[in-house]
Order: sequence, then structure tokens, then C-alpha cells
Amino acid sequence: MPEYLLGIDVGTTGTKAVLADPSGRVAATATHEYPLHTPRPGWAEQDPADWWRATVSAIRDVLSASGAKPEQVRGLGLSGQQHGSVFLDKDGKVLREALLWCDQRTAAQCDWIHDTVGFDKVIEETLNPVLTGFQAPKIVWLRDNEPQVYERLRMILLPKDYVRYRLTGEYATEVSDAAGTSLLNVAKRRWSEVMVTGLGLTTDMLPTVHESPVASAEICDTAARETGLRVALPVAGGGGDNACSAVGNGVIQEGIIQVSVGTSGTVFAPMLQPKVDPKLRVHTFCHAVPGQWHAMGVMQMAGGSLRWFRDELCAEEQAGAERQGLDPYDLITQMAAATPIGSEGLLFLPYLTGERTPHADPNARGVFMGLGLRHTKAHMARAIMEGVCYGMRDSLEIFREMDLPIEEVRNTGGGSRSPFWRQMQSDVFRTPLLAMEIDEGAAFGAALLGGVAGGLWPDVPAACAATVRTKDPSRPNRKVTAVYNKYYPTYRGLYRSLKRHFARVARIVERTA
Ligand code: XUL
Repeated sequence: MPEYLLGIDVGTTGTKAVLADPSGRVAATATHEYPLHTPRPGWAEQDPADWWRATVSAIRDVLSASGAKPEQVRGLGLSGQQHGSVFLDKDGKVLREALLWCDQRTAAQCDWIHDTVGFDKVIEETLNPVLTGFQAPKIVWLRDNEPQVYERLRMILLPKDYVRYRLTGEYATEVSDAAGTSLLNVAKRRWSEVMVTGLGLTTDMLPTVHESPVASAEICDTAARETGLRVALPVAGGGGDNACSAVGNGVIQEGIIQVSVGTSGTVFAPMLQPKVDPKLRVHTFCHAVPGQWHAMGVMQMAGGSLRWFRDELCAEEQAGAERQGLDPYDLITQMAAATPIGSEGLLFLPYLTGERTPHADPNARGVFMGLGLRHTKAHMARAIMEGVCYGMRDSLEIFREMDLPIEEVRNTGGGSRSPFWRQMQSDVFRTPLLAMEIDEGAAFGAALLGGVAGGLWPDVPAACAATVRTKDPSRPNRKVTAVYNKYYPTYRGLYRSLKRHFARVARIVERTA
């Protein structure tokens, strides 16, 4: 009787389930989408009930599409969008919509935490500054702005841990996602008393922290009835989506870097020690592999920038793609590929919703610089793709400054499906780049963690050795790299020149909107 592993990724646009066998072959996948609410500019919220409904449907779909019987599933792993905050009352009821990683409302609360706990102390404990997207300032925002809700607050969970709660009845989390709350002592991999008490909280308002491949809990009766899974199926700690996707891509040793181009873009370097960028431009979080950490640069809008371009400026291409049965991104990429390297001097800053790495600035915005009469929509498409590559190179340059080895880059996410964009990344990064044989993202890594929790493999490296394979290597083309190298310093300098204007415009917008 074949055995299976189940991975669930509670993402920003939808929840995805992946059912794989122990050789890594994917038996079925299913995704159910849900809306993101933006009640005010810069705010981003979701209803945790939507995550649960999507999880149940996705699990039911993969079980029925594969014909797998519940007893054939060995383990389940959970992955999810990081940093969000789910607020629960004493009965485990959701108090209000969850605030998400891309929500930018908490600048004042970040300052308050830095002032109250002390900036150096925050870094000593959490190895990162408190940023607007992270969980802790969202809790403080609730206290400051919705005191009647805050009064009833008894438990704070990350998005995937809310789904774990519905699946198992347990309040639990794991180190890789907990590292992005600003409440974890990241070096020691346990809640930080200093941060928790500094915010006026108690640790009983936070879930138990596990290592990622450890069985954190088991499927409960109610969830078994709803999902069709078996009672007592082990549920691994799992991980934040970036750490899980790194596991799924075998990015579990120093020197192998993961570049993920989804809505956001992340650049991920495993570390055997929790090194910190002295300028605090990249995050230092726990990896989903026990004994490992990772440095991570985050672009808020990588693929999201191209999606904006598709949705706002490419109605023609979308209609054309529909007529020809193509993906509009294929037409956009063809257009971009037909324009010269460097987009004939057109540069794009992909800061459509502010930026995190290397400039933690919620006020930054997208910019086309150098527009001339010669430039067409095709140049704009190429400039966006190049801008995203330059932005990710910023993170790689920081890793180089931190003396983190960069031997090979593994590419993942929607953006990695385009051979053109992969080659561009290799040329801009100056590194060899590989695509993944199985590119099912974080849900696949979560499934591997579920397999370890279910006793199929002894540890994460064994799970990766059995399942992960790379393909389609790209190598940097020296001549092309030389052109990108000429533009890159201007890309880097642009933010510095515009920083104060971004702040000024943000103030004007706030006053006049
Ligand atoms: C990472 C981050 C995003 C979300 C997206 O720090 O905020 O990558 O995890 O799901």
C-alpha cells in the first residue's frame, strides 16, 4: 500500500495542499483562494475562517484526486505566510480579522517597542529590528486602537498555527515562523521573556514553540470528520513559507541560496550560526532545520510588480493571450525579451508597497526612471523584470558583505517558470542558477517535514536527499553581466536620492487622501 505525505501552505492568495509520495512524486495538488481585505491604504487583513475553509477543501480535493486512503497518509506539515497575527479570546474564538505580513499600519508601534524595550536589547534578543510587517507591533496596535478587543485577547497565533489549532485543538508553533514575531529569542530558539514582558504580555498568551520537523500535535476528531484525514495523524511543527520552501528545494546547507520570486521576493541563505548583518538590512531567523538559522532579504513586490503591470497596463496582451490560449505572462515576457539588455536606460524601482530589504521603508514607492520617447510598453516590462533582479541582487550583496558563501542559487516561485527571467537573474546575480524538478513551493517542504514527523525519515537532510532534484542550470553570460553591472550602481543610488521625497509625498497623501 503506497504511503503519502501531506503539506499545507496557508498563503496570502490561497491555501495549497500537496500530497506527495516518499520519492517526492506529487500525487495531487489543490489550491483554494480567498480575498485579502484592505480597509484602508496600507492595511492588509484576512479572515482566518477563510483559511480554514480553504484548508478543508484543499485536503478533501487532494485525497479524492489521488484516491489516497486516510491511513496511507504518514504525516502532515504546515507552512504559511509569515508574521500575521490572529487574535483569539479565551474560548479560541477569532476576535477580529487577522493583520498580515504586508500590512504597513504599525510604524508608531515599532518605534514604541524600540523605545520601551531599548533598540539594542531588541536586537540582542530577536536579532532583528521590529518591522511594520512583523507580529509584535500588530499586538501593540490592537492595544492602542481597539482596546475593547485587546481586553478580551488571550492567545496570539501566526496564520498557519491557527490552521493547526483547528486541525488539532493545540496552540503550537515552531521556531522558523516564531522568529518573525519579534517575540522569540532567535539564538536560543525560545520565547524571549524580555520581549514578551516588555510588551505587557505573558507567555501563556503565546503557543508552545517546537522545532519544525517535530510532531507538534495530532489531528483531532472534529478535524478528522471535516477533512477526511485520520484521527491522530501527526502534524509537524512545519515552518514559515520561506523556510518550508527552502526545505522543499534542499536549501539546507551554507553556500546554497534560494531565490524565490512569488508576489514577494525572498533571498534565503542557510547559516550554521545566527549571524547578523551589522546594518540590519536582512533578517536573521531560525531555519526549519534544527541547529540551523537563515539570513533572508525580502522584497515586498517582486512578481507582484509584474502582476501590477499585467493588470493595469496589459489589457491587450491579456485579451491576446486568451485568444491564443496562452498565459499573459508569456506574451509579456516575449515583449520584454525583444528589447535590449538594460531596457535602453529605463530603470524601475519595484517598491510598490514600500520595501523591506535593503531599505526598510514603508513610504518607498515604485519608480520608472529614464523614460524617453523611444521607450515602449515592452521596455517597461523588461525594466520591471530587471528591477526585480537588481533588488534581489541587493540581498546577495549583503550576504557577500556578511561573508556568507554563495555557490549556487536555486530558483523557485512563479517567476522561476520563465527561462528568460531565470537567465536574467543569473546574469544580474553573477551566479549559476538552477530550477527545481518539483516546484510546488512551501507546501512541498511542509510535506517533507510532515514525513519526518511521521517517522518516514530520521531528519530533514534525509528527506531532502530522497526527494529533491534540480534541473535546467543557467550560467551568467559575461557580456550581459557587464552591462547590468554598469546600471546596478544607478539602481542602488536611486533610492538614496529619492528617500526624502518618498517621505514627503507620503505625508501629502495622508493629509489630502
Ligand atoms: C517573509 C515575508 C513574506 C511572507 C509571504 O518575511 O514576509 O515572504 O512570508 O508569505
